[in-house]
Amino acid sequence: MDTINNLFIYLFLSVFTFLLLRAVTAAHLRRRKTRLPPGTLGLPFIGETLQLISAYKTENPEPFIDDRVSKYGNIFTTHVFGEPTVFSADPETNRFILQNEGRLFESSYPGSIQNLLGRYSLLLMRGTLHKRMHSLTMSFANSSILKDHLLADIDRLVRLNLDSWTGRVFLMEEAKKITFNLTVKQLMSFDPCEWTEKLMKEYMLVIEGFFSIPLPIFSSTYRKAIQARRKVAEALGLVVRERRKERGGGERKNDMLEALFEGDGVEGGGFSDEEIVDFMLALLVAGYDTTSTIMTLAVKFLTETPHALSHLKEEHEEIRLRKGEVESLQWEDYKSMPFTQCVVNETLRIANIISGVFRRAMTDINIKGYTIPKGWKVFASFRAVHLDHAHFKDARSFDPWRWQSNAGSTSSPNVFTPFGGGPRRCPGYELARVELSVFLHHLITRFSWVPAEPDKLIFFPTTRMQKRYPIIVQRRSLFDPYKE
Ligand code: HEM
Ligand SMILES: *[C@@H]1O[C@H](CO)[C@@H](O)[C@H](O)[C@H]1NC(C)=O
Ligand SMILES: *[C@@H]1O[C@H](CO)[C@@H](O)[C@H](O)[C@H]1NC(C)=O
Ligand SMILES: *[C@@H]1O[C@H](CO)[C@@H](O)[C@H](O)[C@H]1NC(C)=O
Repeated sequence: MDTINNLFIYLFLSVFTFLLLRAVTAAHLRRRKTRLPPGTLGLPFIGETLQLISAYKTENPEPFIDDRVSKYGNIFTTHVFGEPTVFSADPETNRFILQNEGRLFESSYPGSIQNLLGRYSLLLMRGTLHKRMHSLTMSFANSSILKDHLLADIDRLVRLNLDSWTGRVFLMEEAKKITFNLTVKQLMSFDPCEWTEKLMKEYMLVIEGFFSIPLPIFSSTYRKAIQARRKVAEALGLVVRERRKERGGGERKNDMLEALFEGDGVEGGGFSDEEIVDFMLALLVAGYDTTSTIMTLAVKFLTETPHALSHLKEEHEEIRLRKGEVESLQWEDYKSMPFTQCVVNETLRIANIISGVFRRAMTDINIKGYTIPKGWKVFASFRAVHLDHAHFKDARSFDPWRWQSNAGSTSSPNVFTPFGGGPRRCPGYELARVELSVFLHHLITRFSWVPAEPDKLIFFPTTRMQKRYPIIVQRRSLFDPYKE
């Protein structure tokens, strides 16, 4: 009885507060003669969050936005995850939002995610420190570093991992191992070992915590994630302290950690251990789940589009036959994969593993005849643009050939933004492309495969294959005609 009473009081208060807030906001907006983008705020407090979640649990990639775009147009108002939010499915508006980072908009993450990332992660930084760290990250993963240094590790670690594949494998699991091994190598020069294996176990718990929304405080997944984060941070802290000592002895390695130490002595000063640890932890988050998901989804789309797969096979078999069985891939080889680059773009376009970004308006912003009030959230949806027939012909089918002309799009050049844009554009964009290309090369030239059982693409809480894409692989060799 008590609970029912409490529930009643709670509901009453919520409705009351909500109506009050809405009246106040409405009055405030009228006074300023502003016009919100059209839309509905849904139920008190939860708004349209439940519609959003249930929509993305279906197989249609964009039900929530499709619905509202057809009702209200490319910019609309809704209320999700506790706040009124303006959604944009309009490329010009998205560009405006991305380019004005730090001036009119700032990135914004829920507190639960901030706790997991740590104060000094690039994703949460602002202002000049962000600028410095962002360009440092870029210079660690730019094309000349990839060419001279990272490609060899990528090639070696991908092959090492593929060597252990037999029979039935969960593609998503294997891809995760590959990208985790790669990231640890790139960050701090560790080759796969017991230590990295243990780190990965804790690390997966941290990642799970990111998706324990919408009620993190009550979730045991989230509590476990916080504990795991502490362990990961301790382990990384130990590595950082060791390396500081070794550097004292004059030893230098060629990795991200070294680049962070080199910040010592330059303008703005060096970074503390805590800063370095948070920074590395966030790089692991940003680079590992995204790249392994895109690897898995590329294989899924190719498997379902046999003529694309056979075209890709030709390209890679030609490279392999030219090189011989074991010689590792060189930068020139990577540069001679034009169709692969079409496949990479098309996978990024249609999979949209980062469907868009949240920002907060730092001031009242007028755009396209509407006003976004100061303090409101905005969501720039990349997926809505990528899947819009106005920008890509037959936008919802996987068609790598579209990239052979017009850079894929039928309209303006700014419609393809899988890596975001502006000051927060993904510093790993080239790295991710190289990792995916090298992975596809070795997979295609060494194995044939079939799906082990039906699986499906889902979109909540993240874009991924529901069963981690189990496949049955069979080894093949281009150099042994009897083994095909
Ligand atoms: C297919 C793979 C990837 C996709 C689709 C992707 C996508 C994105 C997007 C859309 C953003 C912008 C977020 C925002 O504007 O708020 C971003 C930021 C970021 N990405 Fe990636 N990313 C990928 C791989 C990587 C890799 C391999 C790294 C490792 C270096 C990485 C590191 C980062 C970092 C550090 C940021 C934060 C940048 C900042 O806030 O200044 N990403 N990524
Ligand atoms: C990449 O970064 C390095 C420093 O790490 C720098 O010397 C080089 O000029 C950069 N290359 C490109 C293409 O930006
Ligand atoms: C890294 O690669 C090795 C060798 O392929 C593999 O045994 C290991 O499971 C991978 N994962 C981690 C986290 O070390
Ligand atoms: C893939 O997309 C990028 C933009 O992110 C573009 O610069 C590049 O030309 C595209 N590649 C192909 C083969 O169209």
